Amino acid sequence: MVQFDTSEQQIAQISTDCLAIGLFEDDALTGSVQALDKASSGLLRKLRSAGDLPTRTGETQLLLAPSGIRARRLLVVGLGKRADFRQRGWRKAVSAALSASLKTRAAHLAIAIEQPEADGVDAYYQGRAVADLTGAALYRINDFKTARKPPRPALKRVTVAGLNAAARRDAQRGFDHGSAVAAGQALLRDLGNLPGNVCTPRYLARQAQELGREHRTLKVRVLDEPAIRRLKMGCLLAVSRGSAEPPRFIVVEYRGAAAKARPVVLVGKGVTFDTGGISLKDPAAMDEMKYDMCGAGSVLATLLVAARLKLRINVVGVIAAVENMPGSRATKPGDIVTSAAGKTVEILNTDAEGRLILCDALDYARRFEPEAVIDIATLTGACVIALGHHHTGVMGNDDALARELVSAGARASDRAWQLPLTEEYAEQLRSNFADIANVGGRDGGAITAGAFLGRFTTGMKWAHLDIAGTAWNSGAQKGGTGRPVPLLADFLIHRAGAYKG
Ligand code: BES
Ligand code: MN
Ligand code: ZN
Repeated sequence: MVQFDTSEQQIAQISTDCLAIGLFEDDALTGSVQALDKASSGLLRKLRSAGDLPTRTGETQLLLAPSGIRARRLLVVGLGKRADFRQRGWRKAVSAALSASLKTRAAHLAIAIEQPEADGVDAYYQGRAVADLTGAALYRINDFKTARKPPRPALKRVTVAGLNAAARRDAQRGFDHGSAVAAGQALLRDLGNLPGNVCTPRYLARQAQELGREHRTLKVRVLDEPAIRRLKMGCLLAVSRGSAEPPRFIVVEYRGAAAKARPVVLVGKGVTFDTGGISLKDPAAMDEMKYDMCGAGSVLATLLVAARLKLRINVVGVIAAVENMPGSRATKPGDIVTSAAGKTVEILNTDAEGRLILCDALDYARRFEPEAVIDIATLTGACVIALGHHHTGVMGNDDALARELVSAGARASDRAWQLPLTEEYAEQLRSNFADIANVGGRDGGAITAGAFLGRFTTGMKWAHLDIAGTAWNSGAQKGGTGRPVPLLADFLIHRAGAYKG
């Protein structure tokens, strides 16, 4: 566990293994950089005019024990042009400082990289970002490699320098929140990275119960297949029936506010592997469908954050966990089933399974009389086409709620973008044989999926987060990202009034 603090010492007097400062490309030396230059008799100015200091964003240069400076190492991080310096550049610079200092095996890193002025980022968010970026830098992928693991990182303490007294208090609260968010992200990444033969519906249920043992404020209930059948969740069971792995329905309650305060209900898609079922997927990149439970993982991770921070808010997590497989008992295209809400659904494509398990879970959410219900799902490839890997798709039936989520994402650097879920899209889901079809053609595929869910959420304030493009990275950097935990955590922190202490 890394400790975070702030320092009010003169920059040249800070005693640390590694002091990180930021350098602009096109600027006179100012602030802490100028102070250090003075203390070291012009060392920085000399190095810079010789072209020996990095200035491009995220480039680093380590200087060992410069005389006149108390720190054992000075780490210079490039910040690019001052005019282009934004929150993203600052985060990149802090990440670069963290990874360079981890290589030195420093136990104590002090960061004195100035914040961009615009972007409305205050000391609280600075503290939070330093803590969650530290968590990301320290995260080690939960692989199954048998070779000896690299030694544990030496970093024990991170100090942020250059803040006034009020800002230091805010930053400290940011550290606490950011550390909790980082723990949530690590949990989500671990769950997502696990292969489908390990992370099954029963495994997710055990993880939920484990969380409940670690945090007494989390009450966990797991429903097995007979219990799910008693709830008449015909759509969920239609997805699960091709698999030998039994489904699980997981309910986690966190009560941090008065018993009568209506909860936020988070509903997670927990498809622990999505083959597509009888509408089988192409083999290319099918392995990535082990991440199809990241909605479920986000729900558990966000509840972990709420419990760790003792947020004064009621939150209920509802997770539908299944495996989507072809098999002799599997649902076939054209099959018609009855959802828990009583509507009949014609399953034209068994690969559109997320909406089937979610419609039953969203119906279950009604019993909590939610203040807001938010489902989180790796729902459509079409959302990845629409927004790429940068923004989570937001849809819903309440614009204020959608905007609140978009704002939370912007503040938390975990961005989301609203798609227009207007009435027309639902028309694409017409069926000749049942109340509704589970697919509406290729066009607007992310939104027709949202429209399907919208048919089951009338009367509740509801939003849908499609995280298909943001929950994991493909290619050489394949692995879970921990998104959208920062967004969801920020949403709850603001709703609970914990942002301002
Ligand atoms: N889990 C997938 C969505 C997905 C695809 C996530 C690619 C990430 C990357 C979902 O269950 C699915 O298969 N959706 C179909 C829907 C279609 C059949 C209407 C899709 O997007 O192709
Ligand atoms: Mn699918
Ligand atoms: Zn899926």
